[in-house]
Amino acid sequence: MAEPVRTRRIIVAISGASGAVYGARLLQVLRGLPGIETHLVVSDAGWRNLQHELGMERPAAQALAHQVHDVNNVGAAIASGSFQCHAMVVAPCSMRTLAAIAHGLADNLLTRAADVMLKERRRLVLMVRETPLHLAHLRNMVAVTEMGGIVCPPLPAFYLRPQTVDDLVNHSVARVLDLIDVEHQLAPRWQGLEPNAP
Ligand SMILES: Cc1cc2nc3c(=O)[nH]c(=O)nc-3n(C[C@H](O)[C@H](O)[C@H](O)COP(=O)(O)O)c2cc1C
Repeated sequence: MAEPVRTRRIIVAISGASGAVYGARLLQVLRGLPGIETHLVVSDAGWRNLQHELGMERPAAQALAHQVHDVNNVGAAIASGSFQCHAMVVAPCSMRTLAAIAHGLADNLLTRAADVMLKERRRLVLMVRETPLHLAHLRNMVAVTEMGGIVCPPLPAFYLRPQTVDDLVNHSVARVLDLIDVEHQLAPRWQGLEPNAP
């Protein structure tokens, strides 16, 4: 008899930085994988950007997750360390949300859940997006890194010769899936150059 698949809970948070597509794509991929239960929390600005950048209304985004939590509901399950979660990804992560996490503000459910991940020493990945960066942005990234979080900006890579925006998005999301130990076939992997390649 096949072993039952252990369910891993993953929190996907979408804040109001540009790049709502990263959160949406992450949810789409996780939805298709066995043994994963997704918990979605979206900031008010995140909802605006889902609509603005993707034309995605709330019901469509909510349908991608197993459970959806109101960002103002600090009493939700994911606000407690006793609720076991495998990992949390903030995709994308605004500079406001980064600052709140870096300073332990826990001022809404998104930042509280991130705070819990850090205090429980669980995997937290922030797909931060802003450019250029000022000193406070950089210091906040250092602070989160010192606390054990992973700062993973969705920077495009060109060594796999992307042909479409989808290729670029998938590459960044694939790197995040690697970071949270989720197996996937989302994007090609570097196989190395021939020894004499130019
Ligand atoms: C279309 C649009 C794009 C934005 N892009 C960014 C961005 O890339 N990075 C960022 O830090 N803030 C960006 N912002 C500003 C944030 O949405 C704003 O600071 C908001 O207060 C963040 O709140 P949140 O962290 O609770 O989502 C953008 C806002 C809009 C309307």
